Amino acid sequence: MSDSFRPLLEACDVSKSVSGPEGRLEILSKVSLRIPQGESFAIVGASGSGKTTLLGLLAGLDTPDTGHIALHGHALEQLDEEARADLRRRLVGFVFQSFHLLPALTAEENVMLPLELEGSSAARQRAREALDAVGLTPRRRHYPAQLSGGEQQRVAIARAFVHGPRVLFADEPTGNLDQRTGHHVCDLLFALNRDHRTTLVLVTHDAALAARCDSRIELEEGRVVTPHASEHA
Ligand SMILES: Nc1ncnc2c1ncn2[C@@H]1O[C@H](COP(=O)(O)OP(=O)(O)OP(=O)(O)O)[C@@H](O)[C@H]1O
Ligand SMILES: [Mg+2]
Repeated sequence: MSDSFRPLLEACDVSKSVSGPEGRLEILSKVSLRIPQGESFAIVGASGSGKTTLLGLLAGLDTPDTGHIALHGHALEQLDEEARADLRRRLVGFVFQSFHLLPALTAEENVMLPLELEGSSAARQRAREALDAVGLTPRRRHYPAQLSGGEQQRVAIARAFVHGPRVLFADEPTGNLDQRTGHHVCDLLFALNRDHRTTLVLVTHDAALAARCDSRIELEEGRVVTPHASEHA
């Protein structure tokens, strides 16, 4: 199978339960999907339908109770936390719904982190270029508390792509942005997808952004309700 047709991500019958005040609650039920390398893929659905949970499982941040997930050919359920962390460092960029910037580091230092973890030289220079791409050069010395929500989101996006990941997961990447900045950020994500073949997996409530993706699934109470298989899936 040629590399371009091998799925970058494959999930098969993935289920996840959590314990809540009323006992066990199944938040994902038998979710299956297949995302070819280089594709853009949207996960949509109402608040509480399980989108963030699914994104975390696909990125190897958490493990399913049952089911199988393969990221770039690696069966995530067979890896321990350390091996999954290594895979994430090498292959994955993640933009969290709540950004997860480190408060004691400036914007620039936050973006440098993934590069420093891989021992890259020129970390500062590359971080500056990434911040420039999201329009934040004037704010690079600011700490997260000194940035607006949308600015923090753009720092998080710069940090997610600065090390050139194979796949970028973004949870509501335009959720806190005005329309113009949101468009700019979307264009940036799709440029990464086009120019570097970075696979994009986006959670979004924005119908226009979902429509721009090659494929979409909709979650309803933890189940896939409308699979839109891509042509080559
Ligand atoms: N650790 C947890 N413990 C208990 N319940 C949880 C936990 N994490 C998530 N849930 C519940 O699981 C469901 C799915 O949550 P999730 O964050 O995946 O939804 P979402 O689709 O991302 O929603 P939103 O659009 O509001 O971000 C929700 O009902 C939530 O309350
Ligand atoms: Mg969410």
